[in-house]
Amino acid sequence: MALDGLDGTTAIITGAGRGIGRATAHRLAAAEARVAVVDVDLSAAEDTAHAIAATGGRALAVRADVGRAADMEGAVAATVKAFGRVDILHNNAAWYPVKDALETTEDEWDRVMAICLKGAWLMARAVLPHMLHAGRGRIVNTSSVHALVGFPAHTAYNTAKAGLVHLRNTVRGHMRHFRTPSRSSKRCLTPITALTASRCSTRASNAAWTSIIAKMNY
Ligand SMILES: NC(=O)c1ccc[n+]([C@@H]2O[C@H](COP(=O)([O-])OP(=O)(O)OC[C@H]3O[C@@H](n4cnc5c(N)ncnc54)[C@H](O)[C@@H]3O)[C@@H](O)[C@H]2O)c1
Repeated sequence: MALDGLDGTTAIITGAGRGIGRATAHRLAAAEARVAVVDVDLSAAEDTAHAIAATGGRALAVRADVGRAADMEGAVAATVKAFGRVDILHNNAAWYPVKDALETTEDEWDRVMAICLKGAWLMARAVLPHMLHAGRGRIVNTSSVHALVGFPAHTAYNTAKAGLVHLRNTVRGHMRHFRTPSRSSKRCLTPITALTASRCSTRASNAAWTSIIAKMNY
């Protein structure tokens, strides 16, 4: 299993209070990573962390809004305080209104960009100093087929997910000096894996997604 060997590592997953983020948190914890469950919904984050602890894993629930720099810095600081290091960042949190270009309000546009795009940059900016100091790390972004297809009813979300792909392209240069360089140093899950995620989500089962991340080289 590609996820073997995570014993002693620490992963931060945003939006892990439910859905794909929660499934990812469980899978990483099962591979013996310590997991920081970051979510704007604290009770959902605590629920995920308690469920991981109930199966013998180690998890920390952190309430944070990915669109706020102070929250992101605080989430990373809390993770380092609890577990001593950050090896993996998975930017998963998202939010989207089903609105076309004429219906989308300015506030909705700003909120989608803050959660789906700016948040990934803020988290990368907060973890990269720790990863660069350690000489290793992995950052994974969950994008979507919306990055490639301009679905009319998702104007802001389409745009944010496309931006996320390019954020990957621009940030990964910071990781070229890692002592253990890897093609997976800055991953962006799009669009094939995201399509599969969509299928497993509509079946109310995260099993398919769990099987995808099980094959990933975190
Ligand atoms: N489910 C799908 O069909 C599908 C398809 C393609 C891509 N994706 C992508 O996969 C990822 C997960 O999707 P999902 O369906 O599990 O999402 P979801 O809506 O079920 O869960 C999103 C999580 O993010 C949290 N969140 C929202 N705003 C936040 C904020 N400001 N700060 C911190 N946390 C916040 C929510 O509380 C929630 O726990 C997203 O990036 C999504 O765009 C999903």
